[in-house]
Amino acid sequence: MGIDWSTRLAARTRTQQDLLGGILALANARGVVNFSGGFPDLALFPTGTVADIARDLLADDAAIALQYAPSEGIESTRHAVADLLLAEQGHRPADDELMITSGGIDAVTLIAKSMLDPGDVVLVEEPSYLGAVSGFAAFDPRLRSVPMDDDGLDVEALAALLASSDVVPKLLYTIPDFQNPSGRLLSAERRTALVELCSRYGVLIVEDVAYRQLGFTAEQHPSLWSLNPDAVVQIGTFSKTFFPGVRLGWAAGPAEIVAHLVVAKQNSDQCAGALGQRMLEEFLRAGHFDAHLPRARELYRGRAAVMLGALAEHFDGLGTWTAPRGGFFTWLRLPGVDTTALAVRAREASVAFVPGAGFFADRVDHEHLRLSFSRVSEPDIDLGVGRLAAVVRTMRGA
Ligand SMILES: Cc1ncc(COP(=O)(O)O)c(C=O)c1O
Repeated sequence: MGIDWSTRLAARTRTQQDLLGGILALANARGVVNFSGGFPDLALFPTGTVADIARDLLADDAAIALQYAPSEGIESTRHAVADLLLAEQGHRPADDELMITSGGIDAVTLIAKSMLDPGDVVLVEEPSYLGAVSGFAAFDPRLRSVPMDDDGLDVEALAALLASSDVVPKLLYTIPDFQNPSGRLLSAERRTALVELCSRYGVLIVEDVAYRQLGFTAEQHPSLWSLNPDAVVQIGTFSKTFFPGVRLGWAAGPAEIVAHLVVAKQNSDQCAGALGQRMLEEFLRAGHFDAHLPRARELYRGRAAVMLGALAEHFDGLGTWTAPRGGFFTWLRLPGVDTTALAVRAREASVAFVPGAGFFADRVDHEHLRLSFSRVSEPDIDLGVGRLAAVVRTMRGA
């Protein structure tokens, strides 16, 4: 008789849901207008440049590029990323304040692993990035949501929550720039207030800047980390701006915390891949990254505009949505429509999106959904939004 392996799973694993599997499985589905994952467009993959860089590294630097790397990252790569942060955010992390991670989600896991005991309170935005929420949830914290509005996280609501709470949360996870899933941008005034508030209560801010470099205009607000590097850990990723196949990101923050993240990495994957680190470093140093970003911003800006136009045309009267000023997403509210059921019906009409439920940490919600416009061509965006609106109308019996 077969063994029931489910009885051998850890208690925390038994309740975990495979929320991302469906999105990743759709990565290459054909014939479907795919608004689901936060995937960069493959037209932006710098294949020729990466091929040249890889060839040179194999010829000249195999001893480093094909070897294990230090857990904090290759020193020269860290310096290149530190220089990037200085150029873009006006602050350069010291050597012991920055590490290279295997992407953004690795940084979330390292933070959760180093900082959370079961039952600790973790604050997240409502809604928030489901990958990070489930990354934290794996360490059994109590997740609490902080509301948002069009200017991002509601700092006054957070202040009220902190004032009325008898436990001090361990950390607040926030995505201030072109948030996943809502596309919202945290206002400049709220940034200063947020950093001041969290410092006062001793709540560590984990600032996820996954989409920060992908604003549609030159407008940029200061990063939370640059406002107070002693009270914020910034996590970033090169998945959206270089390519996700390389699995690289960073964590920058107080030296004491970064030291623990490095130890946590020693007992997970030990180090981010050296070949990718060296490729990224060369890409940054040669100025390719700076040349690449404007092209990416332009492409996504165009797609966002088409998406908003298509929503205005096809979804008039069906709901409301956010108007992102950067990033990959718009967030829809369709009152009275069960978006989890809608996702199944939409797949039959060859359209995919992510229903909103997974983006809520401590509340059940079925009337939101996330549309990603990042890797759908402009004509397909209109086609897909039109198909989706038709399904919504059928479900509503209109
Ligand atoms: C806000 C946010 N953080 C982190 C990540 C994960 O990045 P990575 O692919 O580097 O793990 C994503 C990817 O969707 C994201 O949207």
